[in-house]
Amino acid sequence: MLDGKEGYAVRKSMEILSALGEIFGAKSLIDVGSVQVAGVSYHNLGDAGLEFLNELAVDGRVKVLTTLNPAGMDLENWEQLGISPEFAEKQNLVIEAFQRMGILVSCTCTPYLIGNLPLYGEHVAWSESSAVTFANSVLGARTNREGGPSALAAAFVGKTPNYGLHLDENRSPDIHVKVDAEFTKLSDWGALGYAIGRKAENKIPYITGIKTAHLDMLKSFCASVVTYGSKPLFYMKGITPGAELQTQPKDTITIDQGDLKIAYDGINDDVNDIELVCVGCPHCSIKEISEIADLLESKRVAEGTELWVATSRTAKQLADKRGYTATIEAAGGKFACDTCMAVAPLKGRFKSLATTSAKGCFYSRQNLMKTKMGSVEECINAAVTGKWNN
Ligand code: F3S
Repeated sequence: MLDGKEGYAVRKSMEILSALGEIFGAKSLIDVGSVQVAGVSYHNLGDAGLEFLNELAVDGRVKVLTTLNPAGMDLENWEQLGISPEFAEKQNLVIEAFQRMGILVSCTCTPYLIGNLPLYGEHVAWSESSAVTFANSVLGARTNREGGPSALAAAFVGKTPNYGLHLDENRSPDIHVKVDAEFTKLSDWGALGYAIGRKAENKIPYITGIKTAHLDMLKSFCASVVTYGSKPLFYMKGITPGAELQTQPKDTITIDQGDLKIAYDGINDDVNDIELVCVGCPHCSIKEISEIADLLESKRVAEGTELWVATSRTAKQLADKRGYTATIEAAGGKFACDTCMAVAPLKGRFKSLATTSAKGCFYSRQNLMKTKMGSVEECINAAVTGKWNN
């Protein structure tokens, strides 16, 4: 493969994989069951990235199921989201290149909700940090946090270097996090991720004290804990698979109600007028969309405020059939399929954001927005009144 017998894309991929293997001391390559590629938004790729993809797309064809992270726009309704035709043209060229490679144009950070669902112990090569954390921790699959090029390389070769989180010895927890707090709303899980990420600092947390959690809570927690500092793997006693096989580390920290408050204080800015409300970081599940539709029944999004529901096109199709889309759009809400507030070209467009997501706040600040994080109810209330009422 390195000699180029299987073509340019495979040779280039093997160069990337062997370099990584050498740097991290991998003894071999291992098969991967699937790949998830980030670095899809033209906003981040630019012309140099597009050229790199076009070169690979000449003869590069993926060998395993490969899905894409969000792009810089809704691929169908980009105009409605205020994206310029110039940007749309370039973004479409990026998508066409991925399509030629045989990649599913799923454009979501929740691949596990749309059919890219690895099993316990399965090796995969994923890039999106929240999905990597979900795969390692909630599903018990094994993946490093790949960059866009190394994930693509794994897709063309069907393998990845066997190092890091693929190996047992690197998957042991190294800090015990005792949680002594009540959770009343979805954003509390983002606050918990912030608190643990900040205190666990690049460690693998072994979390105790959580009595119950459902998919949307864990999805939100995964996005937050890795954004704010920990490794993309945690164990939650009684909740995530394999926690019972690990030894509880002696080094212990406690997270209590005060830590959640500190997290909210760190995430929330001093702002009252809300210009953008975005729910769906990570992308909304169909259950979250149904909650939004219920809350918007007979209501109207305020003049001067936009409400975006960020989700996968697959979830939106279910929402269409169930009537949720009609309710949300009748209220003036917009679907932002295939994209999200972090990778769309939003810098300077909105001054303030309300969201349920701690990760969403982190990236929106980089887009020069002031941020507020709260429950779905608080966010919909902000959309309807144009104000943050806390
Ligand atoms: Fe997904 Fe974008 Fe959030 S990729 S996790 S919606 S920042």
